Amino acid sequence: MAAEQSSIHGLWRNRWLFILAATGSAVGLGNIWKFPYITGENGGGAFVLVYLFCICLIGLPVMVAEVMLGRAGRQSPINTMTAVAKDLRLHRDWAGIGWMGAIAGFLILSFYSVIAGWALSYIFKMGGGAFEGATAESSGEIFGALLANPGELLTWHTIFMVLTIAVVARGVNAGLEKAIRILMPLLFVLLIMLLGYALSTDGFDQGFSFLFNFDASKLTGESVVVALGHAFFTLSLGLGAIMAYGAYMPSDVSIGKTVLAVGVLDTVVALAAGLAIFPIVFANGMEPGAGPGLLFQTLPLAFSQMPAGTVFGTLFFILVAFAAWSSSISLAEPVVAWAVESKGVSRIKAGAWVGFSAWILGIGTVLSFNHWSDVTFMGKTFFDSLDFLTANIMLPLGGLMIAVFVGWKMKEADVMAEVKMSNPVLFEAWRLILKYVAPVGIAFVLWNGLQ
Ligand code: TRP
Repeated sequence: MAAEQSSIHGLWRNRWLFILAATGSAVGLGNIWKFPYITGENGGGAFVLVYLFCICLIGLPVMVAEVMLGRAGRQSPINTMTAVAKDLRLHRDWAGIGWMGAIAGFLILSFYSVIAGWALSYIFKMGGGAFEGATAESSGEIFGALLANPGELLTWHTIFMVLTIAVVARGVNAGLEKAIRILMPLLFVLLIMLLGYALSTDGFDQGFSFLFNFDASKLTGESVVVALGHAFFTLSLGLGAIMAYGAYMPSDVSIGKTVLAVGVLDTVVALAAGLAIFPIVFANGMEPGAGPGLLFQTLPLAFSQMPAGTVFGTLFFILVAFAAWSSSISLAEPVVAWAVESKGVSRIKAGAWVGFSAWILGIGTVLSFNHWSDVTFMGKTFFDSLDFLTANIMLPLGGLMIAVFVGWKMKEADVMAEVKMSNPVLFEAWRLILKYVAPVGIAFVLWNGLQ
């Protein structure tokens, strides 16, 4: 395999830029919005523990494999998989990893943009003082009114999609780089502030034990599936997004250390968000299992009670919107990069098509919160079904195939040369995980949870 070839889309200038971009992709709505609400729905501590296990034992090792494949192929995930499989004289169907990923990324983008739109609308609600003197009840009403208004949801969905495609069209090296460098640390500072506030409420102990007290009786097969799926979702794994970013990574960088940094940052942000939100839930007698609105109903309460809360609240939702922005571009990147390479279209044209189609599909998610809220498949709305299908089925399946490919199909010497892990014990452990632990674990969880 040619280790020194470059990518037609450019390269990250150094390892920090890769960490920044990958963290920008990983840290997003998944950490701040989704993690707290699915933790609430799945009973707390036991779910969190399973999730952390999935991150360490399956997520991080698969992430190393995904970055490595991207760097070995140096193209869009679809063409990378085709090229690497061809080098190894394997069946071209292995490119299916790239195809399924591109489709999953497109599907996720369609609803991700709608939820990110909620954050955009909250910037203006907060800034306009809508939450001054808010109570649990009034904050719930404001959120309910947003969901009941498809026109408003559609407007913000449209704006967010245009923002996403604008960056994707300019290419990964320009775009958001500078903004992320300032905004990610700022997001962190604000989360710490919220944590400080949560500590001062009388719900902190209860919130803390909800998150960290292990109670196995609360675990169901389905919640294990959700925990595994979320490990993939939050690390941006299983669909080629990280593979696409790996394709722009310089050849001399150690993948393992870099991935570890991304994983730690991602996990810390999710836990901080949970620790900030649950004390507010309990201090105000709210419902931990309230669903997708949890973040949007709880945090405005905290801001309404702290000094200069309007300013901090507005800033907070700006940062959430940026975190979502730097994630959504990586959802579109695999399809767009493929269209540029294989169809010879410009990034702008490819981006416009992908964005427009995902925007249309997003209308289904918009309607699932109002007109179509009663239209369900197996008890799930359009949004719930898309979320379940992508995060809990497609991403783990993608991860399983990546693990099998790198663990069983690639030659050990090639893998060793590409991944550049200096510690032989770690390398062997990683290979064993890819060969056995990850595929068997994923297959077992899906098999048990989906009956
Ligand atoms: N990880 C992002 C989040 O937590 C979402 C995301 C971006 C993603 N790119 C991805 C999820 C690729 C799966 C695959 O919000």
